[in-house]
Amino acid sequence: MKTVICPSMLSADFNILGEQLKEIDATKAEYLHIDVMDGTFVPSISFGMPVIKSIRATTDIFFDVHFMIVNPEKYVDETAKIGADGITFHYEAAGEKTEAVIEQIRKAGCKVGLSIKPATPVSAIEKFLDKIDMLLIMTVEPGFGGQPFIPESYDKIREARKLIEDKGLSVDIQVDGGIYKENIASVKEAGANIFVAGSAVFKGSITENVEALAKELGM
Ligand code: DX5
Ligand code: ZN
Repeated sequence: MKTVICPSMLSADFNILGEQLKEIDATKAEYLHIDVMDGTFVPSISFGMPVIKSIRATTDIFFDVHFMIVNPEKYVDETAKIGADGITFHYEAAGEKTEAVIEQIRKAGCKVGLSIKPATPVSAIEKFLDKIDMLLIMTVEPGFGGQPFIPESYDKIREARKLIEDKGLSVDIQVDGGIYKENIASVKEAGANIFVAGSAVFKGSITENVEALAKELGM
């Protein structure tokens, strides 16, 4: 599986967002992680369509949109239209509608991601593994950057990677929350291959930070 670093825009300095995105473009990071929060599924509100649309004009990087919203089906088509490359939604938000939302994202031309919160077991989404491109295992409670990695996540990542392998699938496993140069290698070892990093990228020098993460990942 290919290894991907995804800076999380939530931690950017929005005063100089354009400059920071240009700096990211010149690093080994291949995805930009874009957290859309609605203040209902999670306590905070982040940014939405006008922001995504505006930054789409500045960079060709893969837009990895992470919906932390209720009723994800309401926003899939518009998000795809304004330039998302991948859309990830939460199983906890979609429930019975999960399969329909997967199909909707696929039909809209985007890569399909399905996410579970720390309290949701991998078994809850096992039946969707053959329908998605990426499983996002949240390694913190969704809602805020800068929280510590939840150690129980290691077992979930291992369990999910084993299930994916046993089924002969090639689903990416993304991790999001509390990823730093100190733990990224062990999270990769557990079976993740796509790494979201907010604070670890945006605190200090973006270029040096991405390089430090890449080094830990053997990239
Ligand atoms: C958390 C968001 C993350 C967040 C990660 O709810 O989904 O993408 O930006 O930030 P760090 O890497 O600082 O934990
Ligand atoms: Zn996220």
